[in-house]
Amino acid sequence: MKFTTSIIKHSDISEEELTEICKLKAIRWEYTLKQHKKWMAENIRPNDFHVLIKDGEESIAYTNLVDITAIINFKNVSVRGIGNVCTSETGKGFGNVLMEEVNKVLVAHDWKGILLCIDHLVPYYEKFDWKLVDKNTIKTEKFSDINFMIYNFEDVVTSLEYADRNF
Ligand SMILES: CC(C)(COP(=O)(O)OP(=O)(O)OC[C@H]1O[C@@H](n2cnc3c(N)ncnc32)[C@H](O)[C@@H]1OP(=O)(O)O)[C@@H](O)C(=O)NCCC(=O)NCCS
Repeated sequence: MKFTTSIIKHSDISEEELTEICKLKAIRWEYTLKQHKKWMAENIRPNDFHVLIKDGEESIAYTNLVDITAIINFKNVSVRGIGNVCTSETGKGFGNVLMEEVNKVLVAHDWKGILLCIDHLVPYYEKFDWKLVDKNTIKTEKFSDINFMIYNFEDVVTSLEYADRNF
């Protein structure tokens, strides 16, 4: 297996690359290619990044790193929202390759990472040193039924508010 990772700024992405990403997403989320493209057009902005991993010619894992702001410990903090995390197939270690690459990118850019996930995925992200934010510290009612996880934060998070866009 020869994995290659492309980090593509949304403002630079080609139509072919977007189609490739939407095809991969469609394996995990049952929407048509057109619907996936519409979601991208409506939710991804020029300064966001795509992380696409290939095994040879085949796309095997994807996420995006969305440029957002969270209010952490009562201050506006620029963070990257990690969204649309997916692999083409479970059980082949692609999930490991993806999160190891994501962490590398976050550290290399000195970006703080935030993601939202359901309960059963918390151990998956913990495997890659992502930390679960204590529910009592989350001040935004809207997200009371989902977990916030963070990576590459130096400070202890005692308060987290999020009112930026979906990712
Ligand atoms: C979540 C997802 C990206 C994980 O990737 P994957 O290809 O299934 O993961 P892998 O099979 O490569 O497993 C990687 C490792 O994580 C572990 N793992 C995977 N899912 C796990 C879970 N829910 N809890 C704990 N560990 C988990 C595996 O046991 C494996 O560990 P090992 O290498 O020590 O054996 C993938 O399942 C996916 O695309 N799911 C659908 C979309 C989705 O729900 N995305 C998350 C949005 S928050």
